[in-house]
Amino acid sequence: MSQAPVKVAVTGGAGHIAYSLLFRIIQGQLVGPDTPVELRLLEIAPAMKALEGVAMEIDDCASPLVSNIVMSDDPNVAFDGANICLLVGARPRGKGMNRSDLLAANGAIFAPQGQAINDHAADDVRILVTGNPANTNTLIARTHAPDVPATRFTSLMRLDHNRALSQLAKKTGAAVTDIRKLAVWGNHSDTQYPDITHATIAGRPAVEVVNDTNWMENEFIPTVAKRGGAIIDARGASSATSAANATADHMHDLLVGSPAGDWVTMGVTSDGSYGIPEGLICGMPCTTSNGEYEIVQGLEFSAFGKAKLAATIAELENERQAVHELGLV
Ligand code: NAD
Ligand code: LMR
Repeated sequence: MSQAPVKVAVTGGAGHIAYSLLFRIIQGQLVGPDTPVELRLLEIAPAMKALEGVAMEIDDCASPLVSNIVMSDDPNVAFDGANICLLVGARPRGKGMNRSDLLAANGAIFAPQGQAINDHAADDVRILVTGNPANTNTLIARTHAPDVPATRFTSLMRLDHNRALSQLAKKTGAAVTDIRKLAVWGNHSDTQYPDITHATIAGRPAVEVVNDTNWMENEFIPTVAKRGGAIIDARGASSATSAANATADHMHDLLVGSPAGDWVTMGVTSDGSYGIPEGLICGMPCTTSNGEYEIVQGLEFSAFGKAKLAATIAELENERQAVHELGLV
């Protein structure tokens, strides 16, 4: 193994999502099939023993890509030299909760972690927040890392994007690979706006193929937006493997590049495009290459789309205000 390993920090290493995610990483699904990785796993003190068990299982996979495993309950250690930080560790919601109910409990995790990334991560660090409420937790972490460019911080909206792809493929009988240019705007919450108005299916406008506005507005959008809750109801626990899959997809595509002619949805810092207040972490369609993203510009919205976008932005602004009042931003 001559190549220098990429240092990948994962928080919540003993949790459910990490239990899928780590095994994807050691199979090369994050940074590529030939690139060695050093895993830097962060947990809280009571979960360190469980984390050791996870590390034993990683060892037992005998993956040629694993150069080293570091475990710590100190973010300053876990993020030291990290090129990639996957911030997964946070409490999941239970039945009957909204993701924003987690703001106070989880928000406090992301201020010290942002600070530790600021102080110790590698100069080329890329950060993805999966822990909920993911958009606003990203805002908190970014606020506490003033020396790290804001564009390095992204939040997970890829699960919503993948859910939308899958629902649209089912409705139309198309292969997911035939669908291009889906977008999910706004918050990773029930107010999000999964948008097929710019999408194509095998080159044809998706709205023409679907030809069913009622389905789009009253079935597709709520099914995608409320999917996390539906999984909690059915499984008794929040999505884990699909969340790990989306976390790996997001970071892989950010590093390696989005497919030609297609978009990926990421929660990114608004640059004011589409009237979205600057600085909010908002789901938007992006193209990516070499660890950088560009927000897709110049898209038109219907009156329905404008109202959906306004509602999800209002919720993000409320969350920002709530964490401001908690002293976190
Ligand atoms: P989990 O409870 O199984 O695991 C969370 C782990 O994080 C636990 O092991 C816990 O000890 C650890 N942890 C808690 N505080 C920590 C801290 N300060 N530092 C390091 N580790 C810490 O939960 P899970 O199912 O793995 O979900 C993790 C988070 O991801 C939840 O907030 C969940 O809501 C969220 N999630 C987000 C998406 C998304 O699309 N954005 C999808 C699914 C789940
Ligand atoms: C999801 O979308 O599955 C996660 O955010 C978990 C949740 O609370 O819905």
